[in-house]
Amino acid sequence: MGIHILEPIKKGQKVMEKAKILPMDDLEQLKSSFTVTEEVILKRRSVRLYKKKQVPEFMIKRILEAGRFAPSAGNCQPWKFVVVRDPEIIQGITETTVKTAKIFKALIDYRQPGKRWKKPIANFLIRMKPNDMHPTPFGAVTLLADGKLSLYHGAPTVILLFKDVRGIGSPDLDCGIAGQNLVLAAHSMGLGTCWVSFAKLAFEYTNKWKKYFNITYPYKFLTSFSVGWPANNPDGMVARQTHAIDWYENGQKQVIY
Ligand SMILES: Cc1cc2nc3c(=O)[nH]c(=O)nc-3n(C[C@H](O)[C@H](O)[C@H](O)COP(=O)(O)O)c2cc1C
Repeated sequence: MGIHILEPIKKGQKVMEKAKILPMDDLEQLKSSFTVTEEVILKRRSVRLYKKKQVPEFMIKRILEAGRFAPSAGNCQPWKFVVVRDPEIIQGITETTVKTAKIFKALIDYRQPGKRWKKPIANFLIRMKPNDMHPTPFGAVTLLADGKLSLYHGAPTVILLFKDVRGIGSPDLDCGIAGQNLVLAAHSMGLGTCWVSFAKLAFEYTNKWKKYFNITYPYKFLTSFSVGWPANNPDGMVARQTHAIDWYENGQKQVIY
């Protein structure tokens, strides 16, 4: 055991060439460098443009292993992964998603002139499904319906993640951890990924793909991932909001950011 750190990486240099293992007591050096794991976490970005070239099978198996090793409440491992590498199937899921998005758009997109009458329907749905109907996914659903947003961004491999609804505590949380393990492992290998939850439109509102993949109780679609070789270089740090963190120590409270 030691501290896995990276020295600054020059363009074109492989991450592993710069990985160094420090003894546990060398904490001073840690102050000025990120660990290998931090580097992958901080630099991962969603990749929405892929090369056509398929990812070797062994790499997909390795990233699935990273998912499988995720912690879960009571070690219940409430997940099922499905790997799809047939372009026709990926296209089929996309088409069903777009069809459903069009229905949603027709029902609730009240933003066009003359369509204000749809507002009560939209308000009702927002109340019923506040998370799904948040303005960001709502806006994206209309983009999907209009063919302005691709579902899997041309990725050659798609991983579907189904949760076992019988999971202990919160299977969504467990699956989220497994998903992040998988995504980080992929990025550590130079692959690109994007979480793709919009495929829910194909799995939750129609039966076609559930039937195709033989998904029955206790499994329920949770999310999916596009995986492939990035065609551009979106990796890099991206600004995040700073949230106030309350810190209690020595009988005092501090707020840090
Ligand atoms: C649970 C989840 C679902 C997501 N679903 C989609 C999606 O369906 N389509 C998409 O293009 N991006 C999707 N994203 C990617 C987010 O938009 C992205 O993570 C966020 O904008 C932050 O950017 P970054 O990943 O580059 O740091 C999803 C992300 C998460 C965590």
